[in-house]
Parts: sequence; structure tokens; C-alpha cells
Amino acid sequence: MNDKKVPPYLFIIIGGTGDLARRKLLPAICRLWEKNLSEFYLIGSGSGRKHDDETYRDFVARSLEEEGVDISHIDSLDWLYYQSVGTGSLEEFKAFADRVQQLEKNLNLTGNRVFYLAVPPSVFPNTIKNIGEVGLNKSGGETKLVVEKPFGRDLQSAQELNRLVHKYFDESQVYRIDHYLGKETVQNLLAFRFSNAMFESLWSRDRIERVEITVAETLGLEHRAGYYDKVGALRDMIQNHLTQLMTLVAMEVPTAIEADAVRYEKVKVLRAVSPISSSDVVLGQYTRGAVEGREVIGYCEEEGINCSDSHTETYAAVRLNISNWRWQGVPFLLRTGKRMFKEATEIAITFRRPPVSIFKQFSIKDIQPNRLVITLQPDEGFDLYFKVKEPGESYKLSTQSLHFEYSEIFGRLPDAYETLLLDILKGDQTLFVRADEVEASWELYTPLLSNHQDVYKYASGTWGPIEAERLLDGEKWCTV
Ligand code: BG6
Repeated sequence: MNDKKVPPYLFIIIGGTGDLARRKLLPAICRLWEKNLSEFYLIGSGSGRKHDDETYRDFVARSLEEEGVDISHIDSLDWLYYQSVGTGSLEEFKAFADRVQQLEKNLNLTGNRVFYLAVPPSVFPNTIKNIGEVGLNKSGGETKLVVEKPFGRDLQSAQELNRLVHKYFDESQVYRIDHYLGKETVQNLLAFRFSNAMFESLWSRDRIERVEITVAETLGLEHRAGYYDKVGALRDMIQNHLTQLMTLVAMEVPTAIEADAVRYEKVKVLRAVSPISSSDVVLGQYTRGAVEGREVIGYCEEEGINCSDSHTETYAAVRLNISNWRWQGVPFLLRTGKRMFKEATEIAITFRRPPVSIFKQFSIKDIQPNRLVITLQPDEGFDLYFKVKEPGESYKLSTQSLHFEYSEIFGRLPDAYETLLLDILKGDQTLFVRADEVEASWELYTPLLSNHQDVYKYASGTWGPIEAERLLDGEKWCTV
């Protein structure tokens, strides 16, 4: 987020041949490379596929082509190197360290390194330990560690992982990724709230009735059974992405848009959330149905899922109460699901109705409240809904909206990873999750993970299990 110049870097992707590297990191890195921001070299490392520097460059070129990235402006990929970490043993990491140091010497680099762990979470501890044990965490320059989500599976495992990270790295060197924070529209939440005094003065229990955060996906498992079936929607989406959105909506005004100031306010929100009881949670799992006109199979029929013992939730809705002066009593409803009716990531703020109705024709219940809907994807932008009188003699009200759409004004938005990678290189931690923040979030959800909640079935292509309506106290979800 800041405008610091980027110094020369050696960027090391552990998991450099994996899905995340191919689909997200390498395309983002190539876009940054085109901007010529710094002297930049990359080592990809993998365990399975055997590569040398040349075959890795071919692999990257092919992957970028498959992802539709135009690399015609990049003269050569000779800034890419490959070094295997094999099975991840200490011996293999020693050979890896030799290659890193050799390259730094040959390329005249000063030791600025980024280690990006694009590997399955089960491999995080061994990788971090080996990086530290072979001394790669120390150099003549700045060394940074980037860890993908999920950071732990519950409070205890997140604490253990933090302890291990801190054995080798200072918190100021650690970048825990939640890619939602890199989305342009998510950052715009800060601009929207803190540069429009008109909204900020309405932003509290005095004027707001409830807040709904929805991340609805039409996708199903997408061949991720091995990961997803052990995780489920609470861990995969609610604990991180939706909770992050909630903190940005609810936090107090930070003293500045700076890493510590922003993260301090976010942690305060998490600490103010009341313990969540099982009656505040509804879980679901998709069955067969039709999504956007296409027949799809149910979760239990997906490849790699054992129907008889999978109770994994593909839908989760949670009602939170933030017990502080600003929000006490205002429900924050977080909802996410796969194979839903349509793709929609939205934050809907419902304002309070007028205190009485002065129109004889309607009771106060007939007057729909004002609503601000911030759309994070697709069609990024927002709508402010209000009532107008329809022309004619009697009073008939209709709902209209003021509409703003990013693409109409600004064109293509940068990809979240592009933003986050640049911030890592610049050393700006504002959009990354701090150790105490990740633990505070797990502290909220860990008690739920050990409860045996019912998992209700819902047909693919719907808005999830009907049981979720009970969280709304007779109201309707805004996004339907
Ligand atoms: C990931 C989850 O973190 O976010 C996926 O593991 C999910 O299950 C994805 O599909 C959603 O991200 P986006 O950016 O497509 O909304």
C-alpha cells in the first residue's frame, strides 16, 4: 500500500510447481515483472517433478499460457531458477541453501529473500524448521516468510505454528496471507468508511439494524476433496475471509492506514465478539441440483469423498454479536457456501427503519429499511437503496438505488495476489494477518469445531439450508 521503492530480491517459492504457484503466484509475478519494479529473481522449488532451470522456465511459460497471461513483453525467463527440496529432509535443505547462496553471489544480490510457502499446510512446520535450521532465515539483507492460509486448524495448532515461526523469524518478517485482503474492493472498504464522513457518522448500533456478509460460490469441490473434506466451510472461509471482512466493517477508526494501527483495531473487534453458541450456527452440505442451468452432483458423490462418514459442511452461516459500545446488539451474519444459487460476495448493511410511519397507508413494517450493499465480486461496486414516492395522487413508495460500479470508471482491477506480492516486497504488512489476530480468530471458532453440529442438506443451486433462516429472527437475507 505504500510507495516505497522495491530493492533487489530473490523470491523463493517452496511449491513452485504446484497449483497455487501456477494459477496465482506466477501470473502475478509476471505482471509485476513487466512493471520493472526492481531487480528480481525467482527460485521455484518442488518435490515431485524433476526440473532443471531450463525445463522449469518452459514449465512456467506453458503454465502462464494456460492461464491466459500474455508474456510477449517479457524478453526472457532467465531470471527463473529451479532447485528441488526433494522429500524435505534437512540434507536436501542444506543443498537448497547452498544453491541460494551461490545464486546470490553470482547475481551480486545483497541477501534480500522472500520464502513463499505455497505448499499444503501439513508441510508448513517442517519447511519452516528446515529453513531456520540451515540458516536461510539469516542473510545480509531482509528475509521474509510468507505463509498461506489456513494458518493452523484450531487455536492450539495456530499457537504452535506461531511459536515455531517466531523461533526463526521476527513477527515483522512474517506475512500471513488472506488473499481477500488483497482484493481492491476489500481495501476500498477502508477508503469508503474513513474518507466519507457521511457514512461513518451512521456506522453504529444507533443507525444500523444488522450487517450481512455473504460469500456465495457456484463452484463445488474442484478436485480438492483431499484438502476440503478435512477442513469444511468454517475453517476454509469463515474463520479467515469472512471474519476478516467483518473486522474491516466493524473496526474503530485507526490512527493511520498503517500495519500496526489497522491490525490493532481489527484485533480489538475480534476480542469483543461474544462467545458463539451452537444455536448461532447453521451448517449445510450440498446435494444434487442445478447451478446456473447446469446439472451437478452432490458433495457425497464427488470424487474422493466417502459418503458414509463425511459430515463436512460446504455451507456455514454464523451470527455474531460484537459486544462493544459501537455494536452491542447488532447481529453480524456471516454466510458462505459452495454450489449456491449464484456467485456473490457482498456486504449488506441494513439501516434502522424510521421510528414511526406518518403515512396512513403503511405500517412501519411496510417501509423497507435503507440498505447499503457493497459488492466485492463480481461487478465490484456498491448500491445505496432508498425509498421514493411513485408519481401519482396517493402515496405509493418504491425502492430505488444509487449505483456505482468500479469497472465502468476504472477498468480492470489488479489481482489480489499482485497487490499482496508487491506489498511483501515493499515490506508493508497492513494487508497481512498478525499472529495475535489469527489466534484471536481461532479462539472464536475453535469451540464450535469440537461441537457435533447438525449438517443440513441443501440442493445445489439454492441459497443453502432453509434452517439458516432461524438466524434472522423473522427477517429475510438481503442477498437472494
Ligand atoms: C479459498 C478457499 O481460500 O478461497 C476456496 O480455499 C474458495 O475454497 C476461495 O473457493 C474463494 O476465493 P475467491 O477469491 O474466488 O472468492
